[in-house]
Amino acid sequence: MTSVNPKNNATNLTVLGIETSCDETAAAIVRGPLQKAILSNTIKSQIDEHTEFGGVVPEIAARAHIDILDRIVAEAMHEASCTWDDIDAVAATAGPGLIGGVIVGLMTAKAIAMAAGKPLIGVNHLEGHALTARLTDDLEFPFILLLVSGGHSQFLLVRGVGDYKRLGTTIDDAIGEAFDKTAKLLGLPYPGGPHVEMIAAKGDVTRFRLPRPLLDRPGLDMSFAGLKTALRTQAKKLEPVDDQTVADLCAAFQRSVSDVLAARTKSALALFSERYPDTEPVIVVAGGVAANQEIRSALTQAASEANARFVAPPLALCTDNAAMIAWAGIERMQLGPVNDMALAPRPRWPLDSANAGVLGAGKKGAKV
Ligand code: KG4
Ligand code: ZN
Repeated sequence: MTSVNPKNNATNLTVLGIETSCDETAAAIVRGPLQKAILSNTIKSQIDEHTEFGGVVPEIAARAHIDILDRIVAEAMHEASCTWDDIDAVAATAGPGLIGGVIVGLMTAKAIAMAAGKPLIGVNHLEGHALTARLTDDLEFPFILLLVSGGHSQFLLVRGVGDYKRLGTTIDDAIGEAFDKTAKLLGLPYPGGPHVEMIAAKGDVTRFRLPRPLLDRPGLDMSFAGLKTALRTQAKKLEPVDDQTVADLCAAFQRSVSDVLAARTKSALALFSERYPDTEPVIVVAGGVAANQEIRSALTQAASEANARFVAPPLALCTDNAAMIAWAGIERMQLGPVNDMALAPRPRWPLDSANAGVLGAGKKGAKV
């Protein structure tokens, strides 16, 4: 499965990263680990192609990746002023994600690696998110990652490259997915998160009291499907729902999610301090939902109460991008062997293999 890594000592490597696991086609060139430089970070969102369907359509996503990936890679190379001689390796998301898109990205990476004679690194998309803060904020291991996007909602203890322990996860919908479904239910456009946040600002948060699912139970698992159902029940009772009611429901939903995340964050940090009493606790947040200001302030507050450092990489690096894939490729290469052409794309690929097999099947296939 593996071949010998040509450069596995800690000298700078320049890596091309490719990301196609959901609805963003992205390529980036990153140099590291010593320099930590993003030479280019090119991205094309497919939101326009999916909006009319109210969510990501896997077939449309895969075709859209095929249409533009070669141009996106060429753009990333041009912006970074790189030739193939400057590139040390090609890294691509090999999973988890919508399989059609993952195949497009990985096959393109293999073709480039073969044609240009470069090593290939298959990156776990979640590892890309998990290691980004080491590119942007110079973070040492260990730390806690809260990943909150349209496809993932989980707390991970990041102990080292390739060394992850999942501390808790959603047992049903991912948080972004819950925002999107709530928006759809209330007649707001896709993607729902930003619209729910905007409308919630005009709402009265005290009018409705929605549940804080699972908070009465120990552990760090979360659940968001019931919250959406409770909101639907309230809305049904008041049909036809006026604008103020929509705003009040959005505010109540956002507050419930923020409360759940803040409470679980405090528990995660307490767990961290138990395990590492002599290490400053750090919580890193990533994923599209991290754009939400109320959630951000709830997490900032929770971290401050736990005397922990709160790290949120810039939003463009919190959401799906290829710089994180290139960076994870660089970190992987420090460990030694890289992949060969037999590497297979994977729709499901939990970072913590001891904890695989969670219920549910979301936008990205698995609630990993
Ligand atoms: O990380 P991301 O860009 O893509 C993946 O899902 O991987 O996350 C997209 C998700 C969507 O579900 C979107 O509704 C949600 O993040 N989102 C938000 C906000 N902005 C994006 N959710 C809540 N508040 C926001 N401001
Ligand atoms: Zn992602």
